Amino acid sequence: MKVSTSRLIGFFLLFFYHCEACAYYKFVVKEVPYTRLCSTKNILTVNGQFPGPTIYVQKGDTIFVDVYNRGSYNVTIHWHGVRQPRNPWSDGPEYITQCPIQPGEKFRQKIIFTTEEGTLWWHAHSEWSRATVHGAMVIYPKMGTSYPFPEPDAEIPIILGQWWKEDIVMLYETFLPSGNIENVSNAYTINGQPGDLYACSKQETFRFNVERGLTYLLRIVNSCISDSNFFSIANHNLTVVGSDASYLKPFERSIISIAPGQTIDVLLEANQSPNHYYMAASVYTVLFKGLFNNTTTTAIVEYSGNYTPSWPPAFPFLPLYNDSQAYDNFTESFRSLADKEHPIDVPMEINTHLFYTISMNSLCKDNFCPVGTKAMILDYNSTVELLFQGTSLFRGSDHPIHLHGFSFYVMRIGLGNFDKDKDPSTYNLVDPPLQNTVHVPKNGWAAIRFRADNPGVWFMHCHFDRHMTWGMNTVFIVKNGKSPETKLLPPPPDMPPC
Ligand SMILES: *[C@@H]1O[C@H](CO)[C@@H](O)[C@H](O)[C@H]1NC(C)=O
Ligand SMILES: *[C@@H]1O[C@H](CO)[C@@H](O)[C@H](O)[C@H]1NC(C)=O
Ligand SMILES: *[C@@H]1O[C@H](CO)[C@@H](O)[C@H](O)[C@H]1NC(C)=O
Ligand SMILES: *[C@@H]1O[C@H](CO)[C@@H](O)[C@H](O)[C@H]1NC(C)=O
Ligand SMILES: *[C@@H]1O[C@H](CO)[C@@H](O)[C@H](O)[C@H]1NC(C)=O
Ligand SMILES: *[C@@H]1O[C@H](CO)[C@@H](O)[C@H](O)[C@H]1NC(C)=O
Ligand SMILES: *[C@@H]1O[C@H](CO)[C@@H](O)[C@H](O)[C@H]1NC(C)=O
Ligand SMILES: *[C@@H]1O[C@H](CO)[C@@H](O)[C@H](O)[C@H]1NC(C)=O
Repeated sequence: MKVSTSRLIGFFLLFFYHCEACAYYKFVVKEVPYTRLCSTKNILTVNGQFPGPTIYVQKGDTIFVDVYNRGSYNVTIHWHGVRQPRNPWSDGPEYITQCPIQPGEKFRQKIIFTTEEGTLWWHAHSEWSRATVHGAMVIYPKMGTSYPFPEPDAEIPIILGQWWKEDIVMLYETFLPSGNIENVSNAYTINGQPGDLYACSKQETFRFNVERGLTYLLRIVNSCISDSNFFSIANHNLTVVGSDASYLKPFERSIISIAPGQTIDVLLEANQSPNHYYMAASVYTVLFKGLFNNTTTTAIVEYSGNYTPSWPPAFPFLPLYNDSQAYDNFTESFRSLADKEHPIDVPMEINTHLFYTISMNSLCKDNFCPVGTKAMILDYNSTVELLFQGTSLFRGSDHPIHLHGFSFYVMRIGLGNFDKDKDPSTYNLVDPPLQNTVHVPKNGWAAIRFRADNPGVWFMHCHFDRHMTWGMNTVFIVKNGKSPETKLLPPPPDMPPC
């Protein structure tokens, strides 16, 4: 009797879940102890998991996530790369689109997927709590449609991260008044594990089982607080097929570059002799020695079968931490599919030209040093070209710039100063990639375009949290359009109060 009742309830729940392609998730934000590198600390998690739970949806789904704050700090959750049409209410950055969810409180966030397909991720957007509060979002093709490549036999999220032995709140609070770079992290991680090359980490090294002859879709996310990464798998090439939930013309590489905020989808063909192979990630940075951690995180790709694996497993080649050429070459190879099934829609007539310099210091006048950039108000449907120009006012750096509420076309990335007479003629108008995070090289530039057809308040910032906290952030306020379907949705009834 009991069984059949619960089955019946299960049936109704299932029915309800599928009725409008909507689903419910419960995120309980709480602190739990985790041990890494022989050292235990409490970390903030969702549902006790690190990395947090993966969300699975189909293109076009709407989901609701009930976020319960059972921790002792304010928190918000951001759905990174989800356009959220007319719905900035659930976008997440604290004090931009919402007040934080305070300890003991709850907020139901509505996440509206529309054009995104591939991999995105969610993360906390309050101070630096995203260091441990993050997880992947997998967006499958709609029922009845398929990938623009042969269906992979299996798939797995690969989340690159960064670990400090010290408490993240302490890290932030020591960093804030110092005016300096934060304390150097103690490890990089793959799916939460530092791997074989770090002390006390071997037992828990992340292992990924593959079967020879099969193809795997790796959904790579960079969740690091302060560094970009190189990533590679020994003896295997990777076919890059997407980034930031938008497909790319496939290209083959042995090394991937990925900045914080970005996602990259690659196909891994298990075509080597059965053995164990290292996958590894190391840092790419423009910082000087001693200001970052020059260590390598590893996981192991293990072929199934009866064999004696060689030890140590083959190790992939990774570029030096300062190899900008290797780094930029990868990112600049992205091309949209731009075919009949995946058309592009690049704004060709631009009515709003913006030129933003990005620097690590500001020109002070009469002891007044402005922090951050003024909010920019955009008319609904205006066509924007935004040029980021890196500077070396204090010290040059690269910057992964992330825009909320939109994906944008990356028209071109260049080194040195932008030349307004020459460079626009080199824009890719044919198949520019559609991204939510663009990596602007050190003292270089990037030109992006988007149509401001999503009313709301949308944050834009560097995804190196140190830079964001220093003021490398701004806001676009996109006005309502004329018709009801081009206006903001009403705020949800349970918006957290301040
Ligand atoms: C972090 O840096 C501060 C200031 O440089 C230092 O006092 C503190 O000991 C460091 N904390 C850890 C855990 O290394
Ligand atoms: C990098 O991490 C390793 C392993 O945790 C640690 O021994 C080393 O001191 C760190 N390097 C720096 C520059 O802090
Ligand atoms: C990987 O690709 C490179 C060039 O694209 C090629 O030279 C190499 O043989 C490939 N390696 C494997 C393991 O397929
Ligand atoms: C970083 O580590 C690599 C080896 O993994 C080494 O070749 C390089 O010299 C190191 N660089 C610094 C600045 O420590
Ligand atoms: C990168 O670092 C290595 C050693 O850390 C150094 O020898 C080399 O000159 C650096 N390369 C560039 C392009 O700065
Ligand atoms: C990347 O490097 C290869 C080999 O050096 C070169 O042929 C290609 O043009 C480079 N691509 C970009 C986008 O720089
Ligand atoms: C936005 O502008 C384009 C032309 O640039 C036009 O075709 C489209 O109808 C406009 N959309 C709305 C909702 O006004
Ligand atoms: C948490 O948020 C509330 C509402 O904005 C604010 O009053 C309070 O100061 C915040 N607490 C902390 C520790 O930031």
